[in-house]
Amino acid sequence: MSYKNHPLVIAAMESIDVAKSLSALDEVRVQYLGKKGELKTLQAVLKSLSDDEKVEFGKMLNGVKQEIQEFLRHKKALIEAYELVGPDIKAIDVTLPGVRALPGHRHPLMATMDEVKSILVGLGFRYDDYPEVESEFYNFDALNTPDWHPARDMHDSFYTTKGNVLRTHTSAFQTRAMKNFGPPPLRAMTSGRCYRRDEIDASHFPIFHQLDVIAIDENISFADLKWVLYQLASGLFGDDVQLRFRPSYFPFTTPSAEVDVMFNGKWLEILGAGMIRPEVLQAGGVDSEKWQGFAFGLGIDRMAMIRHGISDIRLMYENEEAFLRQF
Ligand code: PHE
Repeated sequence: MSYKNHPLVIAAMESIDVAKSLSALDEVRVQYLGKKGELKTLQAVLKSLSDDEKVEFGKMLNGVKQEIQEFLRHKKALIEAYELVGPDIKAIDVTLPGVRALPGHRHPLMATMDEVKSILVGLGFRYDDYPEVESEFYNFDALNTPDWHPARDMHDSFYTTKGNVLRTHTSAFQTRAMKNFGPPPLRAMTSGRCYRRDEIDASHFPIFHQLDVIAIDENISFADLKWVLYQLASGLFGDDVQLRFRPSYFPFTTPSAEVDVMFNGKWLEILGAGMIRPEVLQAGGVDSEKWQGFAFGLGIDRMAMIRHGISDIRLMYENEEAFLRQF
C-alpha cells in the first residue's frame, strides 16, 4: 500500500516544496527524519501497541519514511540542476542564432589516399587493411629480403620488444593477401601508415603513407602493369599524363622499375613497381609455375605534396589549422 496520503508525508511534502536551497532542504530532512524528528516521535507510539498492531504500524513508519526520502531526493536533484544552470535559466532567448558547428574536411593525405583507392577499385582491385605492427617474416623474409639484407638494418626500422617490426612498407601485405585469398586470380591493395627511422627533413618523416597493389593471374605481363599505371596516373593527373620507367632494383620484384611522372616541366618519382618474383609467390603459397603477377607501391605523402605543391612533408603531420584550411 502507498503512504503518499499519510498526513506526515503531506506535511513533509509542503515543507520540501518551499525549500529553495540545499541547506533549507536539509533542515526539512532533519525536521522529519532526524534523531528528534517527527517520524521518531511517531515511532514512540510503537511501545504501547500489541504485537499484531506493531507489525502494521512498523510497515506504515517504513512506508512514510520512504515516501519522504523520495521527495527529498527529487527536490535535491532539482536544486542541483538549477544551481548548475544558474538563475538565467528563464532568460534564454530562443530566437537568438545558435552556435554554428564548423564542418571539417578531410586531410589532404587522406583525400589523396581515397582518390587513388577509388580509381583502383574501379579497375577491380579489392581493398583491405593489414597490420601496421608486422612480423619480420611478412615485412622482409617473405619478400625475398633475408636477414643479411641492408633493408633490414636496425637503423632503418622500428622494432617492438617482442621482435615485431613497424611495417617499413605496405608491401608487407603481399604474401598475407596471397595466403588470405587462396588461389589466384587476385587483384588486391592496401594502404596506410609505414614507419622508418629516417632523419627528419623536408622530405623525410618517420611516419609516412604508402599504397601497395598486386595483381596475380595467368599470363600477367609488364604490359598489364604499364596499362594499370597509366590508368591510375591519368585519373590523378589528367589524360595527357606522361610516365617514365627507370630500371631499378627491389628484392621482391624483377624486372623492377621506378616510375616518374612529368609534372610542371619536371620528372618526379612517384612509385616503385615490378613483376613479382617467384620466391615471393611461393612464400604466399602461389604456384609460380602457373601464375605471374605485378606489384607496385606509391608514396601517398609524396603524391599529395606533388598535387598540392606542398614543399615540406612535416606540414602534413603538424596539423596546423592555417595549413589544413587551404585544402
Ligand atoms: N615497397 C617499395 C618501397 O617501399 C615499393 C614497391 C612496392 C616496389 C611494390 C615494387 C613493388 O619503396
